[in-house]
Amino acid sequence: MIHLQNENLLIAIFRYLLKSLFLSSLLTTHCVARNFEKVDTSIFKNGGINEFVEWRDNRGELINAHDGGIIESNGTYYWYGLALRPLKVSKDENNGAATTTGITLYSSKNLYNWKYEGVILSTSTDTANPLRAPMRMERPKIIYNEKTHKYVLWFHYVGYPGKHGEAIGTADAGVAVADKITGPFTYIGHHRPINDSGAVKDCTLFVDTDASAYFIFDRKETNGSRCLHIVKLTDDYLHSTNKWSKIEVANRREAPVVIKHEGIYYLVTSDVSGWKSNAAKVYKATTIMGQWEIVGNPCEGEGAEATYNTQGTNAFCVHGDKNQTIIMLERHNTENFMRCSYVWLPVVFTANKQLLFPYKKEWELNSIVTQKK
Ligand code: DGJ
Repeated sequence: MIHLQNENLLIAIFRYLLKSLFLSSLLTTHCVARNFEKVDTSIFKNGGINEFVEWRDNRGELINAHDGGIIESNGTYYWYGLALRPLKVSKDENNGAATTTGITLYSSKNLYNWKYEGVILSTSTDTANPLRAPMRMERPKIIYNEKTHKYVLWFHYVGYPGKHGEAIGTADAGVAVADKITGPFTYIGHHRPINDSGAVKDCTLFVDTDASAYFIFDRKETNGSRCLHIVKLTDDYLHSTNKWSKIEVANRREAPVVIKHEGIYYLVTSDVSGWKSNAAKVYKATTIMGQWEIVGNPCEGEGAEATYNTQGTNAFCVHGDKNQTIIMLERHNTENFMRCSYVWLPVVFTANKQLLFPYKKEWELNSIVTQKK
């Protein structure tokens, strides 16, 4: 009798163990599946024009690389950008747009799934350091120098405490350099191209087919006027030269993105309205220093007058193929800058030399192969 009781007890324990094992495996599968669903994708999801879609990395965390760009190296894409802070940290909403981290990097083989690689240029806690946090390294851009084999980073430098201004140190061009895209980048310093009377605002970099590189920036004069300018860089890309031009037609424009296609230089810009979206405008030229002429609004349909509630950041080619150009835009979230969302769209080059990027809520790479209308 006792023996039988023990046997029943053993069976009951065995059943219980089996059941918990089954339940826990179910739970594990469920968790893994959820996590997998969050980070593994094969589609670009932009969402509706009023939506903030979350793009997450291999850890399941929000990709925190704002207003940066993509650079391809040895078959791997690297996405870098400014790490923003989670919430607005004072009454001044723009404060949330400052960084206490620096420039972050992610890598991907397929452009859809991103692995966090870490911080490649860090801010500092040292009060004497020019990268003392909080500060801004706005619109960071990285180019590779084939001659020096260095990666060169330029950005809109706004020193501690990260408030935009007109004085030197509050609106300059910051420069850093590294041997590897994964860093660490060494900070070289900040300066004002052309001369000190023009504050540096939004900016980008462009490397031409002859390997010469250019810094394109919104220059604000002491009299308040502002206009996009372009300045040629030295051969090592570390300094600006005295070869520059004012893009007269791009008066009061910012968020510059340069794309070259079939010998034409296109310049995508936004109007100047803080973080509020406005209509994008494209210019084109046959030589980088100009003459530039207006092409028009690259957006179509719903939200075209506000760039689909975004602002341009950068453009890159898929595997170096100019007919597969993607423009990176950002939908700013002033309530929580870390939750600005990324919007990537394929660029259409039309036969009459226009550049367009119609909105897509979601899309796949294989839909962009040839882009002529
Ligand atoms: C819009 C610019 O494009 C951003 O880079 C940023 O500087 C904000 N304005 C600040 O208002």
